[in-house]
Amino acid sequence: MPRGKLRGWRLVLLLLACVLGGTIFAAMDNEAKAEYGDVVINNYSDAAGMRPAVFPHWFHRIRFRCKVCHGDLGFQFKAGGNDITMLKIFDGQFCGACHNGQIAWSVENCTLCHSGKPGTKTQVHNSTLDKLVTPPDKAGQSGSTIAPAAPK
Ligand code: HEC
Ligand code: HEC
Ligand code: HEC
Repeated sequence: MPRGKLRGWRLVLLLLACVLGGTIFAAMDNEAKAEYGDVVINNYSDAAGMRPAVFPHWFHRIRFRCKVCHGDLGFQFKAGGNDITMLKIFDGQFCGACHNGQIAWSVENCTLCHSGKPGTKTQVHNSTLDKLVTPPDKAGQSGSTIAPAAPK
């Protein structure tokens, strides 16, 4: 093969790598919101004398497709945006669709879900990537009242 042609191919490969890399980064950026955070759910817990529920989003997301929870199980895309009660969970709705002793450990394990520090308000806790995109003026407002999740 003539040298010129080889060099041309190298350029094409380099460009391809850049485009691919860019796409992957863009995709990561789009999904970075709740995926890497723990969702603290505290619409009722504090008032009921329970610790707030902590939902490790990333832990679940690597096991199930978004559609399982946000489509089939009807979870709204909003921290605290679902009216979740224990009656519904016992009835097999929301967390109870899986935490029934079959797909995952069952509802008796209260403290595995109710693990938040009392008083922590409903939020997506910026445990990992979100920290990087927190605007400087918001820094310190994220309320690090629960221990940051260990890097997964
Ligand atoms: C699989 C996770 C999970 C388990 C296990 C679990 N809970 Fe909950 N619980 C939740 C979520 C999520 C909420 C909604 C939290 C909120 O909005 O404050 C909730 C809410 C509550 C509430 C307030 C709402 C209501 O229904 O009165 C109480 C009280 C409660 N849980 C008690 C318990 C007790 C007691 C146990 C153990 C027998 C338990 N929970 C086990 C996830 C769980
Ligand atoms: C195992 C169930 C489950 C899976 C799988 C799941 N989610 Fe979620 N997601 C939740 C729950 C629970 C919440 C919190 C809802 C609440 O607080 O009531 C949530 C919250 C969210 C939020 C709102 C966060 C905010 O800022 O308020 C977004 C966005 C989101 N999920 C996106 C996704 C995407 C994208 C995927 C797939 C890549 C996904 N989720 C997979 C259960 C799931
Ligand atoms: C689509 C099924 C599904 C739903 C819905 C679901 N979980 Fe889970 N969850 C699982 C599975 C599977 C595991 C892993 C169980 C195991 O390791 O035995 C798990 C594990 C967990 C863990 C332990 C994480 C760890 O680090 O070990 C917590 C806490 C938890 N779930 C909370 C919740 C809460 C709170 C909700 C509702 C807001 C919920 N889950 C809804 C399937 C689900």
